[in-house]
Amino acid sequence: MGKKTYDDHDLEYIKRVLAEPQDITGNKMVAEFEEKFAERIGSKYAVAVCNGMCGLHTLLAAAGVGPAVEVIVDPIVQFGALAVLYNNGVPIFADVDPATHNMDPASFAARITPDTKAAVITHLWGLPAEVAQIRAEADKHGVIVVEDCAHAILAEHKDKKVGAWGHAGMFSFQASKHLSTGDGGMLTLSDEGLLQEVRSLMNWGAAPDRMAYNFRMPGIVAAVGLAQLERIDDYVQQDVDNAQLYHQAIEGCDWLVPQALPSYSTHSQHIFTLAFHGEKQGIDYEEFKRVSREEGAGLGFGYTQRTWKEAQIVAAYQFPTFSVPVAYGKGCPSRCPHYAKQLPYRDGYCPNAEDLMPRLCLRGLSSGTRDDIARGADGLRHAIERVS
Ligand SMILES: Cc1ncc(COP(=O)(O)O)c(C=O)c1O
Repeated sequence: MGKKTYDDHDLEYIKRVLAEPQDITGNKMVAEFEEKFAERIGSKYAVAVCNGMCGLHTLLAAAGVGPAVEVIVDPIVQFGALAVLYNNGVPIFADVDPATHNMDPASFAARITPDTKAAVITHLWGLPAEVAQIRAEADKHGVIVVEDCAHAILAEHKDKKVGAWGHAGMFSFQASKHLSTGDGGMLTLSDEGLLQEVRSLMNWGAAPDRMAYNFRMPGIVAAVGLAQLERIDDYVQQDVDNAQLYHQAIEGCDWLVPQALPSYSTHSQHIFTLAFHGEKQGIDYEEFKRVSREEGAGLGFGYTQRTWKEAQIVAAYQFPTFSVPVAYGKGCPSRCPHYAKQLPYRDGYCPNAEDLMPRLCLRGLSSGTRDDIARGADGLRHAIERVS
């Protein structure tokens, strides 16, 4: 059985939407989903969107990001940095803590300049970033903090859920996520001004005098979201339990290092992640990858920046989108008349991220069945025995 269940309960909600007049000015089910979601996360407001990326795009536009505006982002995943490019802003990458894979608050503080307007902080793989410390530093400089919570629904940092720490948070309901509507997303907000901007930007019909976007969530999608929200605790708990199977598989192995979990955080375990350090004990990484595949360990190596060649798994800014850059080759930020500084995307810019990136061994947990995951964990145990 698949771990996410869609049944008559979801259909009942969908039927309620179809029974209402179809109207873009505000579907009742969307409003209900927003209200319940905000309640679950502990944020003041929530706004449903058509997916996570359009949510990040809108939040940064609402925060005033544009040409020559710097936004601090993560170097492991590209989502935050891409949303900055959509707005013609300048992604400035902060380095990570190699133990947690999340943004290092000291590197964040060091990257703030008078041109910094916002930051996108990812709670990587489901582990909350040091968002309390980052928010406190950001507030000193008037920097708007957007949390990327795509992996981390219900995860807590210091007794508060992610999505309630920043000025805003973004959740993705894409197919592989804990809560899935196929595609979809939710923004959580604590700031009234930002809320008004977001509402006006994401519905062009409501703001025809602006260059707004049509990023609304349809009522039918909200119906599924609302039904799935009632099951989200079970889904997250299943991933937390499944992660234990992988933790057990690496017991006694000191060259595969899981993310460190601070005592004041909970992990939602969207992706179970290890860093390979076997070379220090003479274990060949390519051999480990080959044996892991043979044993069906279910691991992926590297993240989105592996689409080139697996042998070249690089930090976000070393990928062609930013380093060449192929996306906005003629304009901002690479050849922006408004931005007088040199783009800092040289090798060695975020040394911890560059070192960590090619070591990453990932197992997505939110779409597999318990049996698949148990088989994968067994496969990993066998692979470790064979190469040790
Ligand atoms: C960390 C992170 N941020 C943002 C996104 C984008 O979300 P969506 O696919 O809903 O656009 C994803 C999706 O995979 C993600 O993993």
